[in-house]
Amino acid sequence: MLTRRIREDDQKPPPDTQILLAILFAGGIIPGRVSRDREIFMPEKVIVLGGDGFCGWPTALHLSAQGRDVLIVDNLSRRKIDVELGCDSLTPIATMEDRLEAWREVSGREIRFAKIDLAQDPSALLKLLKTERPGGVVHFAEQRAAPYSMKSSAHKIYTVNNNVNATNNLLCAIVESGLDVHLVHLGTMGVYGYDSSGKPIPEGYLTVTANGKEREIPYPPSPGSIYHMTKVLDAQMFAFYARNDLLRITDLHQGIVWGTNTKETSADERLINRFDYDGDYGTVLNRFLMQGAIGHPLTVHGSGGQKRAFIHIRNTVECVRLALENPPGRGDRVEIFNQVTETHTVRDLAAIVSKKTGVEIRHLRNPRIEVEENDLAVTNDKFMKLGLNPVTLEEGLLDEVISVARKYADRCDPSRILSTSKWRADIEIDERIEESVSPL
Ligand SMILES: NC(=O)c1ccc[n+]([C@@H]2O[C@H](COP(=O)([O-])OP(=O)(O)OC[C@H]3O[C@@H](n4cnc5c(N)ncnc54)[C@H](O)[C@@H]3O)[C@@H](O)[C@H]2O)c1
Repeated sequence: MLTRRIREDDQKPPPDTQILLAILFAGGIIPGRVSRDREIFMPEKVIVLGGDGFCGWPTALHLSAQGRDVLIVDNLSRRKIDVELGCDSLTPIATMEDRLEAWREVSGREIRFAKIDLAQDPSALLKLLKTERPGGVVHFAEQRAAPYSMKSSAHKIYTVNNNVNATNNLLCAIVESGLDVHLVHLGTMGVYGYDSSGKPIPEGYLTVTANGKEREIPYPPSPGSIYHMTKVLDAQMFAFYARNDLLRITDLHQGIVWGTNTKETSADERLINRFDYDGDYGTVLNRFLMQGAIGHPLTVHGSGGQKRAFIHIRNTVECVRLALENPPGRGDRVEIFNQVTETHTVRDLAAIVSKKTGVEIRHLRNPRIEVEENDLAVTNDKFMKLGLNPVTLEEGLLDEVISVARKYADRCDPSRILSTSKWRADIEIDERIEESVSPL
């Protein structure tokens, strides 16, 4: 693995670390960074796949700001989908060239970019891995919107082909490269489903007793859309390659991300992060904040009793770094973290935003097939133990998102706000806000 082991304080390994170093080098591993309290492996070079996206861009900047050599790979498909949907990011995102130039000016650091389609061009990916020899690869590069994945057969086929092939091509390339790379993948809490079992959802594995013997099995998946189904398929592939090829893999089961900017993206207007507000890509809390900012009724699907897990974008970038610093061993099962900080019902979120902005709540017919009243408790002990500092709704960052939304309100196309994707052809939906049900 292309990482270097140094102590954070004096950069000199203590005697017991020297023994460990010898073991690691003997195993072909070039170790990473070690802190005084615990071992931290931080790869010097990290490839961020999907680094032009909402989570990938701020993560690439964060890792670069932390001193890593970062290379972004993206096929810019998300920008093409903006064109297909006729709806831009609310924030005016710069071209990749301008983004990287701005980062160079602001930080003095270089982030490189390679335009590669992971699903279509496995040989370019393999060549890149062989040339760059990264210690870590962060995989954000998938079609990530559930409503988009349910729009039509063509969208279902695209989502499955894109996501499954991207992940399998990546895993094949890592094996063929012969590198000991730590792969960190962005999965979703949605793989667990929302049929409440009454117990907190553990981090990936469930302890069961069969024939008097206790064992851990992968938590039974229950995907609620084609997009979520691809993440379940990803998980199967990870389990296979970790077992068969001894790959080091971490799968982050992430909650719904809210917020826009991080410390790094706020440093220059050209570094601004994307902000999706439309019915396909906008995620629930950001959508409400944006709707509140422009005086559009807050659009709740059904009763709003759907409870979901959330995380602020600043915590997303921190979690990815923490995950990179703590790789599983070769031959270990896939490491799974629940990347969430809090849970709320959609109804409660709408009430919070309505109180803040004075905008009314509208209940729309639900275009999705989902349980409309569920309980949800999630364990996030692993990240908490690693020192995650949760940014919660109380932290005042709701106002920051509202002010970003107000600043760029003139870029909003209100006709794109309602979700028109439905989970089955026979589902009736509200296509205009005037049709929607009055507040409950
Ligand atoms: N945003 C959220 O709330 C959220 C929540 C849970 C999990 N996630 C996961 O995090 C990851 C990133 O999400 P995001 O919100 O940044 O999405 P995004 O759509 O903004 O970013 C994804 C990026 O990947 C690129 N990409 C897609 N397919 C590609 C391919 N075949 N080759 C190369 N590049 C490709 C896109 O162009 C885009 O820039 C996704 O895998 C998603 O499932 C996101």
